[in-house]
Amino acid sequence: MCGIVGYLGHRQAVPIVVAGLKRLEYRGYDSVGIAMIGDGKVKAIKTAGKVAEIEALVAADRGAASVCIGHTRWATHGEPSDVNAHPHLDCHNHIAVIHNGIIENYSVLKKKLVDSGHFFRSSTDTEVLAHLIEELSRWSKGLEEAVRQALQQVQGTYGVVVISDREPDTLIAARHGSPLVIGHGEGEYYIASDASAIAEHTRRVSYLDDGELAVITRQGMRAKTLGDVETTKSIQELAFDLARIERGGYDHFMLKEIYEQPETIRDAMRGRLLAADGEVKLGGLEHVRDRLVGARRIILVGCGTSWHAALVGEYMIEHIAKSPVEVEYASEFRYRSPVLSANDVVFLISQSGETADTLAAMREAKSKGAAALGIVNVVGSTIARESEGGVYIHAGPEIGVASTKAFTSQLTVLALIALYLARARGISSEDCRVLAQELQSLPTKVSYLLQVSGRVKELASEFKDARNFLYLGRGANYPVALEGALKLKEVSYIHAEGYPAAEMKHGPIALIDENMPVVFLAPKDALYDKVVNNIHEVRARRGRIIAVANEDDREIEQIAEFVLRVPRTYGFFGPIINVIPLQLLAYYIAIARGVDVDQPRNLAKSVTVE
Ligand code: AGP
Ligand code: GLU
Repeated sequence: MCGIVGYLGHRQAVPIVVAGLKRLEYRGYDSVGIAMIGDGKVKAIKTAGKVAEIEALVAADRGAASVCIGHTRWATHGEPSDVNAHPHLDCHNHIAVIHNGIIENYSVLKKKLVDSGHFFRSSTDTEVLAHLIEELSRWSKGLEEAVRQALQQVQGTYGVVVISDREPDTLIAARHGSPLVIGHGEGEYYIASDASAIAEHTRRVSYLDDGELAVITRQGMRAKTLGDVETTKSIQELAFDLARIERGGYDHFMLKEIYEQPETIRDAMRGRLLAADGEVKLGGLEHVRDRLVGARRIILVGCGTSWHAALVGEYMIEHIAKSPVEVEYASEFRYRSPVLSANDVVFLISQSGETADTLAAMREAKSKGAAALGIVNVVGSTIARESEGGVYIHAGPEIGVASTKAFTSQLTVLALIALYLARARGISSEDCRVLAQELQSLPTKVSYLLQVSGRVKELASEFKDARNFLYLGRGANYPVALEGALKLKEVSYIHAEGYPAAEMKHGPIALIDENMPVVFLAPKDALYDKVVNNIHEVRARRGRIIAVANEDDREIEQIAEFVLRVPRTYGFFGPIINVIPLQLLAYYIAIARGVDVDQPRNLAKSVTVE
């Protein structure tokens, strides 16, 4: 949630921080602010709205400082407004704080601070930190100690950066639950909630761990625990292709990322799928191979789109590898006190690798002795670092808030895991070869599909004023229906529901009339005839039918008002292809309705609060 950027060095800090905030805006975008130290004083500039809003406001201060911090907010406590925007300052404007996360005991702390005379301006939880540090500065030796003592009183999650005009050449950063990466330049330091904000300046980074605090000065960086014990931080080389965080000629990141899918699906398989031999190599699972193969249960955990990927994974792994699989919402898993043992293997599925609920699920699984493995996109993210192994999906940076390419890459990796397990559990290399070759053909099929998908735009203008949508699918395409509905909700604000097609008659059928568009996933797989029956049931009630169907399917034209054609593939790989017209439909409907699809209202890319 929210983006954090900081700079300390010899260059003009304000433009560096504002440019970094632009890169991070996808993480949160309801308000924005910076604080710098110029002429020995803290100066904060902040406003409700997007990063673009602040550019004019900081114009006069572009050269005013070589130390600056900035924040783009996704409100948890207090509405998005100028005063609630970060940075938050203490009573006398000496200290500025930016924060990602939630201070859960803020009201108790605030009451104490108000009682001892502190004056609050905002209704955020974050502001207590500025006043607490101010209060403790009176008794402590310096900023570092005051920050440490303040954080020891805090319950909740944070990534924070603090500056003070009393120590104008120092940045203090600390994390507990929200990511922070430190960039090392030549005589300069950067700090950010993700590497995309700083990759244009330096590729040498270190990641703060939970419970760590970093003190950055012009002389260098030191990391410590909150208990004041020095820790060593290694510097890693960041592999980052800057072109992948640019829009590259597309109107929106979402569209660019939809069109990247032939390449990203191929990247997910590269070097792993030895199709001609019927073999799959997954280096990150080799050390847990026996545990995985002999697991009592494989539990796939995620949120949102990643949870939908998990549902498809359940169909793939159970059908292809015959291993027992369960799927859990990360947020429910943790608080259910799940019964786990060393015989269970838990896969945490997360694009960002930072989702608070999924992280907590990982820690729960580890604490109970289960193997915790990641299926993650962002290299170096917390789940990637704290899990015991896993598989990167290698989709490259996903900037559009609505996940698209990460979903198809997650499915591709889950298909690889299904084949890997199936081989280990005894299917022949010949049977595996047939499936592996089909998987290998998907990027070409997706490429073709994207070339011929012009029809979707037509459909978008036909249905842009619909108030509701129903998405229905069976088997492995049921989660695709859920994902199609989620995409539409997120970017067009049209209410949409996904259901297993056969469940429709147990309730949702009551909603169907001539105004209800119903999207059916109807590929020619084992359940095709059953889906056709469900289409007839909707037709009989005058619902408007849009079918996602294979190119050679003539029957469907007789019963659907619109048909979106998709290439044919093996049934359990179908979701990787079938979701793509639904991504495009959501995109074009949103465009027709004038929504900012890369930054739809109320959403944030990484949900780092519970
Ligand atoms: C997808 O379009 C969403 N914006 C959201 O549901 C997302 O998939 C979810 O928050 C999980 O994120 P993660 O994959 O980064 O953990
Ligand atoms: N809880 C803080 C607020 O509401 C920080 C939110 C964020 O992570 O952007 O202001």
